[in-house]
Amino acid sequence: MQKKADYGMAIKTKYPEPIIVAIAKDENGKMNPVTIGWSMIASGSPPMFAIALTPKRHTTAAIRHSKCFTIVYPTDEMTDDVMFFGTHSGRDIDKLAEGNCKHIPAEEIDSVILEDAVANFECTLESELEAGDHIIFVGKVVACHVNTEEKSRLYSVASGHVLGGVVKK
Ligand SMILES: Cc1cc2nc3c(=O)[nH]c(=O)nc-3n(C[C@H](O)[C@H](O)[C@H](O)COP(=O)(O)O)c2cc1C
Repeated sequence: MQKKADYGMAIKTKYPEPIIVAIAKDENGKMNPVTIGWSMIASGSPPMFAIALTPKRHTTAAIRHSKCFTIVYPTDEMTDDVMFFGTHSGRDIDKLAEGNCKHIPAEEIDSVILEDAVANFECTLESELEAGDHIIFVGKVVACHVNTEEKSRLYSVASGHVLGGVVKK
């Protein structure tokens, strides 16, 4: 049985939502990580991701500038850094320098990858689409990296940016 609900109530049923970090180089050459809940796999062949960012994010300008970005699957051990990346703007600080994530240059794009993550996907910018109050950036995957150890992905588990791992059964 279904009951009619407003959007604000219905959308709270979406959890758990996988969290990603996107990293793009800004116009000053700084690699800027941002936390994103609204992302999806957009194509399988060729592989592509889509991420939704508001126009005011520093990362929105950085992606338009560098025309590429890394998609990171963070681990649940990276929660503090992910919250830091999602609550501070690269307009004001160097988030990678102030955080605790080890990072190394990406191989195929002008970005970095995070060494302790579950996986990293290097993407070139394919297109962007305005969707309401967000911009959807579509990136084509040109290189992938996976952790040699088994790690748990990080999820948003409840509204209000409550983050945590999801136990696999
Ligand atoms: C768990 C979480 C999920 C988020 N998801 C999104 C998102 O999908 N899209 C978005 O534009 N901002 C999202 N944000 C907010 C940005 O990460 C935040 O505003 C960040 O400080 C922007 O950094 P920037 O200005 O360096 O790009 C999220 C934040 C958190 C903590």
